[in-house]
Amino acid sequence: MIGVFDSGVGGICAFRRVRELMPREDMIYLADRKNAPYGTKSEDEIRALTERNIKLLRGLGAEVVLIACCTASSLHHTLCPEAREISIPIIAPAAALAAKVGKKIAVIATHHTATSGAFGREIGRLSDAIVFEMSEQPLVSLVEKGSRDGRVTEECREYLRGLRDRISATGADTLILGCTHFSHLEKEIGGLLPRVKIISPARVGAEELFKKIKAHRESGRTIYM
Ligand code: DGL
Repeated sequence: MIGVFDSGVGGICAFRRVRELMPREDMIYLADRKNAPYGTKSEDEIRALTERNIKLLRGLGAEVVLIACCTASSLHHTLCPEAREISIPIIAPAAALAAKVGKKIAVIATHHTATSGAFGREIGRLSDAIVFEMSEQPLVSLVEKGSRDGRVTEECREYLRGLRDRISATGADTLILGCTHFSHLEKEIGGLLPRVKIISPARVGAEELFKKIKAHRESGRTIYM
């Protein structure tokens, strides 16, 4: 069984992509709404919630857990070994793709992810692209309040117009939706920035999980990680 978690609805974008790639796999989704948002919490709090979520999903039968939350993924390397070993973070694969295609990369993320510099660090290991890490925490609650699946509230539309101006001001050729909640607005954001390449860690992370599971199965091993 595959476990997927986020603080709320953001990780559903990753969950759907995993479903498309592995329709026969048993899956379980955890939305930790009680403790949302994660992006304004301290590192210690986010780490504790992440370890708890992985343990919970494992207890429910998950053999592998996709951390469909960039905020939690930014702390993957600091998790306890039991949690680290069975989980897949989503920042590194998205950063690797951005490093390949972008020269000026804007990252919109939660307060924690943006200030941690996690995307910039990963990209910096692979390329000399310029990275702009932008905290766009209010967009998380706009998505939670219902701006998704083709519906965008006027409040959210207005926020997106300001966001377009902030991103345009950086001159970025590539944009990372560095919080999985923002993947729900990929079409709208893409429409506002038609010349910018958009990378969704939710999607790239799901594809990374698929590759890892496939490789493990081909190697004849029964466990995923
Ligand atoms: N969707 C999450 C992320 O990718 C967290 C949003 C939040 O709870 O602040 O970072």
